[in-house]
Amino acid sequence: MKLWNKKIAGVSVLTMSLLLAACSDDADNATEDTGSDDNSSKEQVEIVYASGVDVTGATDALIEAFEKENPNIKIKRQEMPADTGTSHDQYVTTFSGQSDEIDVFDADVIWPAEFAQAQYALELDRFIEADGINMDDFFPGTVQSGNFNGRQYAMPKYTDAGLLFYRTDIVETPPKTWDELFEMAGELNGEAGTEFGYLMQANQYEGMVTNAVEFIAAYGGEVVNENNEVVVDSPETVAGITKMVEFVNSDFVPSNILSFQETETNNAWVGGQAVFARNWPYMQNTSNDEEASEVAGNVGFSVLPAGDETNAATLGGWMSMINRYSAHQEEAWEFVKFMSGPEGQKISAVEGGRAPTIEALYDDPEVQEAAALFANEEFVTTLQNAVPRPVSPIYPQITDIMQVELSKALAQDITPEEAAANMQSKIEAAMAE
Ligand code: GLC
Repeated sequence: MKLWNKKIAGVSVLTMSLLLAACSDDADNATEDTGSDDNSSKEQVEIVYASGVDVTGATDALIEAFEKENPNIKIKRQEMPADTGTSHDQYVTTFSGQSDEIDVFDADVIWPAEFAQAQYALELDRFIEADGINMDDFFPGTVQSGNFNGRQYAMPKYTDAGLLFYRTDIVETPPKTWDELFEMAGELNGEAGTEFGYLMQANQYEGMVTNAVEFIAAYGGEVVNENNEVVVDSPETVAGITKMVEFVNSDFVPSNILSFQETETNNAWVGGQAVFARNWPYMQNTSNDEEASEVAGNVGFSVLPAGDETNAATLGGWMSMINRYSAHQEEAWEFVKFMSGPEGQKISAVEGGRAPTIEALYDDPEVQEAAALFANEEFVTTLQNAVPRPVSPIYPQITDIMQVELSKALAQDITPEEAAANMQSKIEAAMAE
């Protein structure tokens, strides 16, 4: 892969940094020049930016850097719930009333198709063209998530893929398969003061669906195939759900695992309570926060384990969109462009441990230094191969069906076979409507 040919090794780091500094100075000056010429004649504008709870502090750093470069634009932050499904529903309420209260908002990769079709979002192509932004600089999958009927409605901010975190002071070599993980989590639980072998997201919400998609794909199953056919009722899916049910009902997960989302996972993890955990890349940042984490320096990560077929990570991530009814579209675009551009994404990566969607940033020495993940070839491959959730304007209905049926299976109210059959008939019915 061209990114990882270790070309940095051949050039002195000093020369490399000087070159990069020179390039970025030019780029900075270019934006600052046009920026201040434009800005001096413009009046002060406040735009409202809605985005979820951010435990990393990267969002504040982004806003500060943007305001410094754009003195005429003030960003007012509106914090949304940490649970993506809950914030989704709040956005739908606001936007369906054609409110202009929010200008810019962060969107989960599963929303743009729906928001575009419902006409909540402003189409961005004219801005992209006018500013000469090359969408080929981004990972293709992240661009596609923001594209609906050939038009771009969302700019990729960062990408996510599920990862296995482990305690390097307890685990020598991370497990390669889900069965190995099961065994190790049981055996190592209790070492170094831990109370749990494994942490995951099993609450009835979107994050649980992302965990399920990983199990299902690892055993060779799929929910909707590339021809848009529902194929979830298969022995492979049943095998994946069966494995997930085993973990949830094991004696090494917290007894309230059915209420665990990312926040609970992160809190227990940085509190040193677990040997292994599944979470998104940002947990590398919170893990190594010397002040807030009891496990700083003792955390490693690996790809998620394999099932019978392969190992799989669900594709997640966040994008930026503009409310179609925003009264400040130009300024809103400036902020979206900044957050999704190289400078903004670098801040998210360095301050927040968020994985860039701009491929070249993985070659940036500061990004590599800030987070071990970004200098890791296996991780970038995982990102590129991550499994998307069904891309559909009716995704909210699909995920609701999955959440209900999978939750029943996790609670052992129905069997994995029943869950797969129910998902099949209900998703088919929803898609036929
Ligand atoms: C992360 C992912 C997002 C996913 C969510 C589930 O925020 O980036 O895509 O839907 O987790 O909780």
